[in-house]
Amino acid sequence: MSAVRKAVIPAAGLGTRFLPATKAQPKEMLPLLDKPAIQYVVEEAVHAGLTDILIITGRGKRPIEDHFDRSIELEHFLESKGKFEELKQVREITDMASIHYIRQRDPLGLGHAVSVAEDHVGGEPFAVLLGDDIIAESNPLLSEMLRVHERYGRSVLAAMEVSREEISLYGCIEPEFVEDDRLARVLSVVEKPEPENAPSNLAAIGRYVLTPEIFDALRNLEPGVGGEIQLTDAINVLAQQQAVYAYVFEGGRFDVGNKLDYMKAMIELAIDREDVGKELKRWLADLVQRKKLL
Ligand code: UTP
Repeated sequence: MSAVRKAVIPAAGLGTRFLPATKAQPKEMLPLLDKPAIQYVVEEAVHAGLTDILIITGRGKRPIEDHFDRSIELEHFLESKGKFEELKQVREITDMASIHYIRQRDPLGLGHAVSVAEDHVGGEPFAVLLGDDIIAESNPLLSEMLRVHERYGRSVLAAMEVSREEISLYGCIEPEFVEDDRLARVLSVVEKPEPENAPSNLAAIGRYVLTPEIFDALRNLEPGVGGEIQLTDAINVLAQQQAVYAYVFEGGRFDVGNKLDYMKAMIELAIDREDVGKELKRWLADLVQRKKLL
């Protein structure tokens, strides 16, 4: 069984839920405090030991490439002004990992975005981290998923409990629990079911460890919900051919392509930060009183 070395980060979607902010800038570059969202995702992959990273980009996504590239002019400027802490931060972004890019010519869906990674991935198991899904920095979710993969040698999905009403926004997992209530065998997975047809309230969220057989499933797939090539549909095919597992996790997860989640992510991250956290907490407490929020 080969260990997972590569991460694929799809970031070619149009981000229509965040227009007009995403008209001329990728949603993955929306800032969460002082870092763009996708930097948190790359850092998460690196912390889990994945240092070969492929970002799937598309039209209008050049700022992502520029962000992870060196900026010699900026480095010279910071050096000449003696801004060494900023210089260190800027250099760290570039040195973090080996980052590659492939363009998805048309945003035909998440499944299609993953399929363009096939040549780069080259027959190995790999991780997929959605470029707009943020997991709290302290959560070891991806490392735990990689451990499940090491143990069973099969694909692993991240799953989160959501309400019955919310399940129609996600891929929904039909689970058969093994060991305990953290790990389930995936019997089937269905994209955005109506609440009354949902087999559970376990939602697949934006972290996956996949075996390379996923590419065969993707190749033969018809467009699904929304006319898009859905990764969920390919995983459902895979689950009928080999065991697929779901790792149920709790804790902070934010879809920063969604406006409300974006604001929540910003506040949660900022509260724990040394530079702004203390003052932000004071201000929030004051706001709650002034607006009579409680
Ligand atoms: P979303 O489901 O959030 O789709 O994609 P979207 O089209 O970007 O956003 P909305 O719904 O229009 O606001 C989840 C992840 O998959 C990527 C996105 O960039 C995002 O990181 N994606 C989606 C692709 O790379 N290609 C696609 O064709 C679709």
